[in-house]
Amino acid sequence: MKTDVVIIGGGPSGLLLSQLLNRAGVATIVLERTGRARVLSRIRAGVLEQGTVRMLQEAGVGERMAREGHPHEGCIFSDDDLMVRIDFKELTGKTVMVYGQTEVTTDLYAAQDAIGATILHEVADVVICDADSDAPFVTFTHEGVQKRIDCAYVAGCDGFHGVSRKTIPQDRRREFERVYPFGWLGILSRTPPAHEELIYANSANGFALASMRNEMLSRYYVQVPLTDKVEEWSDDRFWERLTSCLPGDVVKTLVTGPSIEKSIAPLRSFVSEPLRWGRLFLVGDAAHIVPPTGAKGLNLAVSDVFYLHEALIAAVKQGDTRGIDGYAARALARIWKAMRFSWSMTTMLHHFEGEDGFAGQMRKATLLHLSQSETARRDLAENYIGLPY
Ligand code: FAD
Ligand code: PHB
Repeated sequence: MKTDVVIIGGGPSGLLLSQLLNRAGVATIVLERTGRARVLSRIRAGVLEQGTVRMLQEAGVGERMAREGHPHEGCIFSDDDLMVRIDFKELTGKTVMVYGQTEVTTDLYAAQDAIGATILHEVADVVICDADSDAPFVTFTHEGVQKRIDCAYVAGCDGFHGVSRKTIPQDRRREFERVYPFGWLGILSRTPPAHEELIYANSANGFALASMRNEMLSRYYVQVPLTDKVEEWSDDRFWERLTSCLPGDVVKTLVTGPSIEKSIAPLRSFVSEPLRWGRLFLVGDAAHIVPPTGAKGLNLAVSDVFYLHEALIAAVKQGDTRGIDGYAARALARIWKAMRFSWSMTTMLHHFEGEDGFAGQMRKATLLHLSQSETARRDLAENYIGLPY
């Protein structure tokens, strides 16, 4: 087989890149390790920046999001009963969109089907060959047969555990990492959300987040030690912990119910440089991971796609390689700023085991300052709604 760009990974970044390239007349083949149902079953991000919304619209997949997504003009940070509202609209003129990653991925698959894009599912043994030459190719097994695709470029959109990053020789890679000593236990429940806006809650019992997907679907998280197992958390235990973290006024009207999904995600900050190895480019979680506290993971994958799709179109259609030469620097500048924001939000809101009283006072003072300083709120809002690109 032969194509312009082989895209490894059919998650949100791979599908969006494929959609944008196809619409511009650049041919792609997407190779995905699992089945479509498996990709769509992963409950992950819920908050889309305005830049992400714009990109999805440009890709022709904004229609259902405009109908079913929920624009949010602000969110709440709480410290026990103190509730501080960050008014995005007033502070930045912008809003975010609550629309789940599963919905985004569903829409992207539908759009790819409609334009007849090639997505191969359940591929195994993917190997990226000769990425540092002018004639790269990718080999893999599909339906029991070994196959090869010759291409001009390879986009590594295969997430943290994929093969793309590891294709770059180890002595050429530099990895930066912070592993946090806790995870998020998350549940999805068919109950009305605790509050009309998201609540990031600091409390004596640790961090909790009250989020949502729609009027009858809530997403909640509580901070847990990394050693905890999902089986140790009955629904009752989860609700008890959550209610001990949220402000009293919110708890009064909180509706609980059975969980329909429950999982623990570890938290880490991670960046691997460079993002480019010859004709291979890393995109999204393949190159970087942020803790979910700033809602940046999916949004950062989309801004990478923005920079790379422009660059690949210019390279394939006009032979202009300036964009691909500049991809890594442009993407990394934004990645590191989102890293900083996600790290500072994580540090500001979580309890670290063994911490002293000073750390707790710093958290309280940060929240108090946020409640009293419009400048502090504006800075947070500007980062939360997403830095421009
Ligand atoms: P992925 O979504 O990881 O997609 C990569 C795809 O590549 C997958 O479909 C995988 O099957 C495929 N793949 C992997 N290896 C291969 C291979 N060798 N060959 C072919 N295909 C391969 N972000 C938020 O903003 N908020 C959240 O609440 C949030 N929660 C998260 C919870 C978890 C458990 C995880 C892992 C991430 C979470 N994120 C969250 C981050 C967000 O979901 C990711 O940033 C986003 O999915 C990145 O998209 P991606 O397409 O780059 O990578
Ligand atoms: C979610 O709804 O899953 C969600 C929202 C905001 C975050 C993280 C996760 O910061």
